[in-house]
Amino acid sequence: MGLFITFEGPEGSGKTTQIEKTGDYLRRKNISFIITEEPGGTKLGDELRKLLLNKSSLKIAGKSELLLFAAARAQHVEETIMPALDDGKVVLCDRYSDATVAYQGFGRGLEIDEVRWINNFSSQFLQPDLTLFFDLPVDVGLKRAMIRISRIAGSSVEDRFEREDLQFHVRVREGYLALIKSEPERFRVIDALKDIPEVHREVCRYLDESIIRLRAKG
Ligand code: TYD
Repeated sequence: MGLFITFEGPEGSGKTTQIEKTGDYLRRKNISFIITEEPGGTKLGDELRKLLLNKSSLKIAGKSELLLFAAARAQHVEETIMPALDDGKVVLCDRYSDATVAYQGFGRGLEIDEVRWINNFSSQFLQPDLTLFFDLPVDVGLKRAMIRISRIAGSSVEDRFEREDLQFHVRVREGYLALIKSEPERFRVIDALKDIPEVHREVCRYLDESIIRLRAKG
């Protein structure tokens, strides 16, 4: 069948918890799936992830950052996502191209058209069938993310973006909202302030809708 679903949202929106619960739901329905993430999902992607997220002391210019995310995506699409879709699996992906527009375009202030061009190049124009956006106020999300980070010690802490100032994260959320406005049919917005089971029910509803739509297409 092949269905490509991405999970997006500001920091601390709970999408990682939701992606795991979605996997449990698909398993119960006997639908084959993979869970993957960006940056990551391949050996190269995992190495780039460490460079991009762990080392808050490493100097990375905005354009370099964009190209490193793009390199991770190119590998991810070719090595992991496309083969899984070709096998008829549901691909649940924690962040994808929309994050690049929101973080590197709106957050860092890189030219949006250039970011889009790089996204298309690195993803071979592969677009998600459905994107779930877990929305919550930026300050609430950052507080949640900081609590999570403070519980993790050592060099594996992935905090490079959480440590950006509030204004950066406000621009990121505005970027996402602009994307949603321009492609309302692809996105579903979920209020991430609701409790975990309620959010999960909403995710399952949207997922079921997509599966039904896909089956109807044949
Ligand atoms: P993620 O693993 O989702 O972190 P979290 O669970 O803390 O939200 O995403 C990693 C970080 O990378 C996140 O801060 C957003 C950032 N990012 C970009 O800046 N550009 C991108 O293209 C992607 C995929 C992620």
